Amino acid sequence: MKITCFEGDGIGPEITNSVLRILDTLNLDLEFEKYPIGQTAYDICGKLIPDEAIESIKRNKIVLKAPITTPIAKGFRSVNVQLRLLLDLYANIRPAKSLPNVETRYGNIDIVVFRENTEDLYIGLEEVISEDEIHAIKKITRQASERIIKAAFEYAQNNGRHKVTCVHKANILKKSDGLFLDIFNEIKNNYPEIETNDIIVDNACMQLVMNPSQFDVMVMPNLYGDILSDLTSGLIGGLGLLPSMNLGYDYALFEAVHGSAPDIAGKDLANPTALLLSACLMLDHLGYSTEAHKIREALYRVLEHKELCTKDIGGQNTLSGFTSSIINELTK
Ligand code: NAI
Repeated sequence: MKITCFEGDGIGPEITNSVLRILDTLNLDLEFEKYPIGQTAYDICGKLIPDEAIESIKRNKIVLKAPITTPIAKGFRSVNVQLRLLLDLYANIRPAKSLPNVETRYGNIDIVVFRENTEDLYIGLEEVISEDEIHAIKKITRQASERIIKAAFEYAQNNGRHKVTCVHKANILKKSDGLFLDIFNEIKNNYPEIETNDIIVDNACMQLVMNPSQFDVMVMPNLYGDILSDLTSGLIGGLGLLPSMNLGYDYALFEAVHGSAPDIAGKDLANPTALLLSACLMLDHLGYSTEAHKIREALYRVLEHKELCTKDIGGQNTLSGFTSSIINELTK
């Protein structure tokens, strides 16, 4: 099976190399077609997403993607947003699960954020009224809300989760978030065995920090999902650890939640865990759950030894050393 692989910018190529080295040891029938995208592609061909890369996705349907650098305020649309819209990847799913021996202030975190991925403020419709007044359009539709909310309930049902929480700001955005909440309240009736509640986004932030164990699956519009999933990554030890999958009807894209970390790029310091766990979600999706389980177990065993871990999680190891330790565990 062929998979489109984007190595990205900054630390992207280093962590992709690490993950592909680890996947290689399993001898799976997977072939990775690699393409540059983002700043690197722009420097080569003047396009953030080259045409060949898009053709490759259309053929293969599955993408493993490392982070990219988005040039700020140069009129460029984020490549991530472009890909999500182009491939109609409507569900952005971010499981935040505590990892062994990664010190945090919290015990056993296991929260899955379902972020609507195609609308809200991310449609990029900003209107310049005057030099001193800009309006941005927040778009919420029944169709997009229904499919993400259903996806969250289906996931909860199929994965033995007991509760789905809707996050919104319907007290202020009565029409847009009000619609999202109304749809949640309609759909929940089809899943009577699952406990539900709804919470205003600011309170959700406070409750996540004070008492995260009350949450299980959380579903929300795009912007809140962006912010809350960074918050949940903080609960498990940081951005370097949180995987994600972007699912649509035809395509699936797996990526780390963190960015291209230009401050540590090329220094062999980056933590590949988020991209590796994203690759495990990809293996689960492709039916290689046994192999995904093996990789997670090998990773967990390495995490038990602080000295083998990268610096961001309190270790002393390099990215390549950490990768070799995981491979050693896998091949034992
Ligand atoms: P960032 O996530 O790249 O970095 C934030 C901090 O976390 C930095 O100190 C960095 O060193 C650290 N960090 C991130 N990933 C790490 C890892 N794997 N191992 C160890 N430390 C890690 O966020 P920042 O600096 O705001 O963004 C940098 C660039 O990345 C920007 O151009 C931004 O647009 C882009 N970006 C891309 C994303 C994507 O492609 N999915 C997501 C978020 C940002």
